[in-house]
Amino acid sequence: MTMVSNPQSIELDDIQGILVRGYGQLRYCHFFFVQVIDPEIGRDILHELIPKITPATVYDSKTSLNIAFTYTGLQAMGLSKENADNFPIPFQVGMTDNVRQRMLGDWGESDPENWFVGGKNGDEIHAMVVMYANTEAEIENFREEIRKHLSTHKSGKNAIKIVYEIGGYRREDGKENFGFHDSISNPVIKGSGRTGPDNDIIASGEFVLGYLNEHEQYPYSPLITDSQGNLNLLPPDANDSGHKDLGRNGTFIAFRQIQQHVDKFWAFMESKTNKPNGETDPHAAVKLASKIIGRWPGGAPLVKHPDQDPGVQSTDNDFGYAKEDPFGMKCPLGSHLRRNNPRDSFRDQNPKQSLKVTKRHRLIRRGRLYQTGTKGNEEYGLLFMGLNADIAQQFEFIQHVWANNLQPNKKTLYNDPDPVIGVPDPADPIQQQGDHNFRFAMQGDPACHYIEGLQRFVTIRGGAYLFLPSLSALRYLTTLGEAQLPPHS
Ligand code: HEM
Repeated sequence: MTMVSNPQSIELDDIQGILVRGYGQLRYCHFFFVQVIDPEIGRDILHELIPKITPATVYDSKTSLNIAFTYTGLQAMGLSKENADNFPIPFQVGMTDNVRQRMLGDWGESDPENWFVGGKNGDEIHAMVVMYANTEAEIENFREEIRKHLSTHKSGKNAIKIVYEIGGYRREDGKENFGFHDSISNPVIKGSGRTGPDNDIIASGEFVLGYLNEHEQYPYSPLITDSQGNLNLLPPDANDSGHKDLGRNGTFIAFRQIQQHVDKFWAFMESKTNKPNGETDPHAAVKLASKIIGRWPGGAPLVKHPDQDPGVQSTDNDFGYAKEDPFGMKCPLGSHLRRNNPRDSFRDQNPKQSLKVTKRHRLIRRGRLYQTGTKGNEEYGLLFMGLNADIAQQFEFIQHVWANNLQPNKKTLYNDPDPVIGVPDPADPIQQQGDHNFRFAMQGDPACHYIEGLQRFVTIRGGAYLFLPSLSALRYLTTLGEAQLPPHS
């Protein structure tokens, strides 16, 4: 593979920055989850905030602000039900709907009944406000500045209510809480102006509404069919329906607050790699964990370094599996990396066809670490955001079909969920037969080595599906209370 140039052709100045960049240089972040109590006040406050929102053209700002809405949130801002119902079904029903809950595997401890945010019992969420800054002091100042905007309104009436908030950060070494370099592999949006390996440059419509996707179709975008607000602010539907497109230059976010059981993770790795005399073997434990992830702690890919950690920090993402490792001898077929993006080795198809399929199920990941709780009772985890134009075909497909599935590859995997995030469906025939011994298979010659008794190392603590509007769409939302004028188009 080669690095290819990728000239800009999408409307970056109308796109919220978080879709195109992860703000790696801004180490700290803060999330507000809010409720709009009065639509007029909500629109007023949004109007004030829009100049502070960071477009994708700005990459050197000291802070960054991005805003996304839920289905009920858009209606709380005044969008009519008819218009809100033009959004795709997963977004409308949300992450905690019974079908979604089953598809995503949110059972037991991860049940939305127990969530801190976005769950079945908590406060309804209308919007998510994501802030970034470079230092702890700067995020604190910025957070308080935005809090003031949200919670005070000139009318003196109740403004926007913050129902949940949480801070996040990026470790200087780029590692997540289990100790592995994260956020290396991310697709590059075609037309975004960013470079990457050619196999990672994905049609814009997989991530940005209003552009052609990998099927050479426009992704399903919410149109305004019930005339309201200043329609002159919105572009026409790219599909020529004659309606205005609320979606263009926007996307969807699958947010998950994922607790990581770090001690349990490493205790498991150690227990499975003990020496015959019962002593622990730290090197073997790290090797097993790396096989489970698909990269060594420093980021070097297993497919290029199967036996030993090269001991360097690596962001190498220029590889496939079809030629280098078709049978998973180097990077196990069931590893987190390989399952969540099988690249050119999807099932038995040829590499070219495989890539064509996998490019339709990519996700832009924006993860930050969090730590909450009191000393001795800390909770560690990941504030995960998956950005995609089609929640069903991307985030849900990846979690349901690639991660939760016990047999994504029938020939070699029998009872193997994704070892990091996979949660098997209790209705799966294997579980119905009473086989609850989940395992992780490491393909090898002459025999496959099975790590039995795989446990769950993460718990879902919150989540929501959100729409990240374009800047034009945000401006449009502020006009929803205006008297209707005939659109001049
Ligand atoms: C606490 C939870 C999670 C942890 C600790 C974790 C950890 C990691 C690590 C260490 C990598 C390798 C770094 C990289 O290639 O960027 C990775 C890659 C990846 N993860 Fe996760 N992850 C988590 C949750 C998720 C979730 C919820 C999804 C999607 C539903 C996901 C999808 C992916 C994808 C698509 C890749 C890149 C695969 C590739 O392109 O080769 N991860 N993850």
